[in-house]
Amino acid sequence: MIKLCVNIDHVATVRQARMTVEPDPVLASDEAVLGGADGITLHIREDRRHMQDSDLYALKKHVEVPLNLELAATPEMLALACKTKPDMVMVVPEGRNEITTEGGLNVIEDASRLHDFISTVKENGMPVSAFIDADEAQIEAAKACGFTVCEIHTGPYAEAVIKNGFSLDCDAVLESMQQISHAVAHVCSLGMQCNAGHGLTHHNVSGIASIKGITELHIGHSIVSRSIFTGMRQSVAEMKTSIEKAQHA
Ligand code: PXP
Repeated sequence: MIKLCVNIDHVATVRQARMTVEPDPVLASDEAVLGGADGITLHIREDRRHMQDSDLYALKKHVEVPLNLELAATPEMLALACKTKPDMVMVVPEGRNEITTEGGLNVIEDASRLHDFISTVKENGMPVSAFIDADEAQIEAAKACGFTVCEIHTGPYAEAVIKNGFSLDCDAVLESMQQISHAVAHVCSLGMQCNAGHGLTHHNVSGIASIKGITELHIGHSIVSRSIFTGMRQSVAEMKTSIEKAQHA
């Protein structure tokens, strides 16, 4: 079974819109776990636009499933990860003006800086994941650099679905699935764990969940969006059902 890690950043986005105390990400994590989440993910951004350091401390203390910390490879974030010891460190590129993570890491260009960062994370006993495009050269660079996990960027697939009128079987979407499928096989052949995520929704998740070799899907925005209408527990449970169905189709 593919595991579902639920990114709850956007619960904090709503809270920060008013700079107040609700909705509480800890409560959201409880509801997500009751809905079947296998892991909880948060991204501490440099500008702290949603999750705050205090959220990380509170979630670390409270959450009983694996807690994943998404971050940019900076000295500040390295110190935070080493202090709080999440169950996995997920490295992403971070642009100050981006709305969300826009692309995978350029491990080829950034190898020496990433290598030192990864070594320290691993010395502190945490697995470290690279958010990476479906590109064989980048995957090989991630392996050489010391990453233990690759998370394949599914954003281009999600965009292809939107651009093609929400079709899941037009040529552009199938081509994107094919690229992701090859990337997943390549990660697995190098002996690394392969995860995937970004832009996945209740509608489009089936295409990616049908790919063999994926260990975890990391999904946030769509789950939090639907939770406004159904509640978090139900939204997560529906996503789990969609993943299960796609795997057995
Ligand atoms: N994986 C990574 C590396 C991300 O940066 C994000 C967004 O924070 C996600 C997965 C989840 O993406 P989405 O919110 O579009 O489901």
